[in-house]
Amino acid sequence: MQFDDQINRFGTHSVKWDMMERLYGVPADKGLSMWVADMDFRPPACVQAAVEKMAAHGVYGYYGDDAAYRESIRWWMQTRHGWALNPDHIFTTHGLVNATGLVVDAYTAPGDGILLMTPVYHAFARTIKAAGRVVVECPLALVDERYEIDFAAWDSRMTGGESMLILCSPHNPGGRVWKAEELRGVADFCTRHDLILVSDEIHHDLVMPGHRHIAMPLAAPDIADRLVMLTATTKTFNIAGAHIGNVIIADDALRAKFASKIMAMGISGNSFGMHMAEAAYSPEGAVWVDALVTYLDGNRQIFDAGVNAIPGLRSMPLEATYLSWVDFTGTGMAPAEFKARVEKAAQICANHGETFGTGGESYLRFNIATPRARIEDAVARLQTAFGDLQ
Ligand SMILES: Cc1ncc(COP(=O)(O)O)c(C=O)c1O
Repeated sequence: MQFDDQINRFGTHSVKWDMMERLYGVPADKGLSMWVADMDFRPPACVQAAVEKMAAHGVYGYYGDDAAYRESIRWWMQTRHGWALNPDHIFTTHGLVNATGLVVDAYTAPGDGILLMTPVYHAFARTIKAAGRVVVECPLALVDERYEIDFAAWDSRMTGGESMLILCSPHNPGGRVWKAEELRGVADFCTRHDLILVSDEIHHDLVMPGHRHIAMPLAAPDIADRLVMLTATTKTFNIAGAHIGNVIIADDALRAKFASKIMAMGISGNSFGMHMAEAAYSPEGAVWVDALVTYLDGNRQIFDAGVNAIPGLRSMPLEATYLSWVDFTGTGMAPAEFKARVEKAAQICANHGETFGTGGESYLRFNIATPRARIEDAVARLQTAFGDLQ
């Protein structure tokens, strides 16, 4: 099983592994890195072959003639998600954080409120604040150990100064796969409050067995005039360093606005990313993703069983993503103490929950996309670090 290979990532400028000592004080030779959302796996052979072909050719000029690249995106969305999109509606950005910055700039004005369903992917708030917009937190409700949406509570927060909602679908952290009626509810909410809806679906291929992701245009076909879709190959195929993402906009007026933003910012395709993404969105890539999800599901089960056996710790049941969201409330410990146990005693780097916004304070997020032996090691380390609670 290729996912079992333990690949040494130290000394490769990996933010996940090479920054752990500097940021967490966890020694590189003893630590276990479970923070940043990239995987410790090689991508499928078809992606490797695309890079090797480029390297063998050895001329790295500007990229052009993107018809096959667009077609690969159309094919993937149709085949994997049942979403029939027009390839002319696709823009290519330097990843989805870049895309978030661009959509914020294109469709909102300084001082506008932008809604986030917290706790949520931390880069959204960082980007919004840096752009001089205001984060409006709409906290998710915790119901039976899962996040749910309390639309009435959100309605009461609206002041009229809001212009956009950024949805994370599936949700990071917590791994909810939003149901059709929840997506419909988000769409209706945006219509009610006249908001642009940005649907970041970067995790849409990493869905656990028994759950089904629904692309927003399928859940709410009538809101195209306010919908901006964000998708990418990078999370699915572990090629985040290629910095490539898709912004897909069906509405002519919204698309024209975004086209001028792309032009103004001088954004054009990264040749490596374009070649890798096209190779990934293929039948061979699809077979690899199916095997990957099965493996991640196995990791999830082992991690959850081990963590939930520690009194006071609860791992939220993941419906999607490889990012386990562990609640330490039941330990009665202050965040400084449970973090010290995880980082100093277990020597594991995990993301701090408070960086995801309100509701994340008592959590840590653990990346489980790593060889199974490391998951077993992580569980053993955590059981020892919290051994006095047994
Ligand atoms: C919801 C979400 N959007 C975007 C990103 C990052 O996108 P990119 O690497 O393309 O900038 C992540 C990374 O974890 C994410 O979870």
